[in-house]
Amino acid sequence: MIHIGRQDRVFILTGSGVSAESGIPTFRGVGGMWRNYRIEEVASPHAWARDPRLVWDFYSMRRSVAAAAKPNPAHLALAELESKLADRLFLCTQNVDNLHEQARSINVLHMHGELFKSRCDSCRRPPFPDHRGYEAPAEIPRCECGGRIRPHICWFGEVPYEMDRIFAALNHCTVFAAVGTSGVVEPAASFVAHVRGRARTYYVGPEEPANASEFDQCYRGEAGKILPALFAIE
Ligand code: OAD
Repeated sequence: MIHIGRQDRVFILTGSGVSAESGIPTFRGVGGMWRNYRIEEVASPHAWARDPRLVWDFYSMRRSVAAAAKPNPAHLALAELESKLADRLFLCTQNVDNLHEQARSINVLHMHGELFKSRCDSCRRPPFPDHRGYEAPAEIPRCECGGRIRPHICWFGEVPYEMDRIFAALNHCTVFAAVGTSGVVEPAASFVAHVRGRARTYYVGPEEPANASEFDQCYRGEAGKILPALFAIE
């Protein structure tokens, strides 16, 4: 059990494992493949420049999988944690689904973007909610400026969003817990090393992550089974 005292500030990092019990496959769980493509081949600026229809095809498929998914007890436990800790909890997810929000988490930082948002690839128009059809569009949608509308996703080779806010929260946290993330994709994989020594560090998931040695303790098992009983709040 993780004891949370009155002065503690908690940073939670979630990865695709937290949504696995909701039926959304993890990245490395499907061998990092979609059809015959490596995911890196369809989730990159290079792929967008070469074949934007293929990219939309991939994200349309992911939208339809995510649209059918419902939050599981792990998402619900994190929403409940927020209801108790309020702004002493910082929830940072690498996931692009909206299951934390569906579970009623209020403040969720999506460092890799959001599946149900799009943005222009040319102008500075902010990302906007986009629930358009889950079939790949026949034509690439266009912005008023003439640019192409792309998924609001941080692709391989791009810089994750809101890193300033993330590091401010990492610098202040006293408890750090990573849930369902294999610890191989940077920069998230190095967050635990950044806080180690200052914060208590925990991992939750069925397998050891690649960065297991950085954690004080690993809780081995499915997030939906472990998280609901994990936190003891003073
Ligand atoms: P991975 O697929 O690399 O890792 C998923 C982790 O979830 C593994 O360590 C599994 O052991 C664990 N897992 C599986 N089922 C679980 C369960 N029921 N409860 C808890 N854990 C479980 O996915 P991520 O680490 O999230 O980036 O990948 C990080 C990033 O790499 C993703 O955000 C994505 C990807 O490429 C972008 O799209 C930019």
